Amino acid sequence: MPPQIKRLLLLFGLFIGLFLLARYLLIPESFGKYGHYRGNSLYENMELPIQYAGSESCTECHADVADDKESDIHDNLSCESCHGPSLAHVNASETIGVEKPSGREFCGLCHSRHSARDRNVVFQIDLAEHNADKDCIECHNPHKPWDLKEQDTPEEAF
Ligand code: HEC
Ligand code: HEC
Ligand code: HEC
Ligand code: HEC
Repeated sequence: MPPQIKRLLLLFGLFIGLFLLARYLLIPESFGKYGHYRGNSLYENMELPIQYAGSESCTECHADVADDKESDIHDNLSCESCHGPSLAHVNASETIGVEKPSGREFCGLCHSRHSARDRNVVFQIDLAEHNADKDCIECHNPHKPWDLKEQDTPEEAF
């Protein structure tokens, strides 16, 4: 074998060796255990404290509020999608409160006009134009949907 080929092979061998070493050092221990990700991240996530309680637990104590909401268009939304993670409140309702969402910005999180949002899924309004000087819940309170009727709203609008 000509010496230059020998040197080339040696060089290739060295590169492959370096590559394997780098791979060994850089790839985390549990990578690929379950799929193309770090297996241990599953266990790390499982150890994070749970923050959400689920809507069923809310209705145990707030049956009246939940009943009212059943007639509202937001019935399919979980309580915590508006009130935020509330497990701490469920476990200690006397001492730990829950966010009572308010203000136009809050409703705008889902309803402000946005070109990337599908209008057929969530109806959108122009936050700056739509009854600008009033709070949304004066006319659309998720827990008092019947109040809408008092606004002389044309039936077909809803
Ligand atoms: C063990 C009973 C219990 C459970 C379960 C419970 N709550 Fe409460 N909640 C209370 C009590 C007691 C209060 C304070 C008195 C009140 O306003 O009725 C309260 C108050 C609230 C308030 C009003 C806060 C305010 O500032 O006026 C909200 C909003 C609320 N709860 C939401 C929730 C949500 C959402 C859930 C489910 C994730 C939930 N609660 C589960 C007992 C409970
Ligand atoms: C679309 C958003 C939304 C959803 C979904 C929602 N809420 Fe509310 N909730 C609100 C808003 C806004 C207020 C404040 C209303 C007000 O100030 O009159 C409120 C107020 C409350 C209050 C306080 C009532 C009071 O008289 O002070 C309770 C309790 C409550 N919600 C419980 C629940 C429970 C239980 C669920 C699920 C069954 C739920 N909410 C789902 C938006 C929501
Ligand atoms: C987490 C997202 C979310 C939040 C927050 C939210 N909504 Fe909604 N809202 C929806 C969805 C989903 C619907 C049902 C689809 C639709 O018709 O837009 C809906 C429906 C509505 C409708 C009926 C639209 C129609 O013409 O049928 C009104 C009005 C409305 N919401 C007002 C509010 C107000 C006021 C608030 C704040 C208190 C609020 N929403 C907060 C998601 C949300
Ligand atoms: C003065 C009462 C009033 C206030 C305040 C108000 N709305 Fe409305 N809203 C209405 C009426 C009436 C309609 C139906 C006619 C229309 O589309 O203007 C409506 C329609 C809507 C719709 C349905 C739009 C569609 O395309 O069908 C959404 C979503 C909505 N409002 C959300 C909100 C939000 C979010 C706020 C607060 C930022 C708010 N509204 C404040 C009275 C009000």
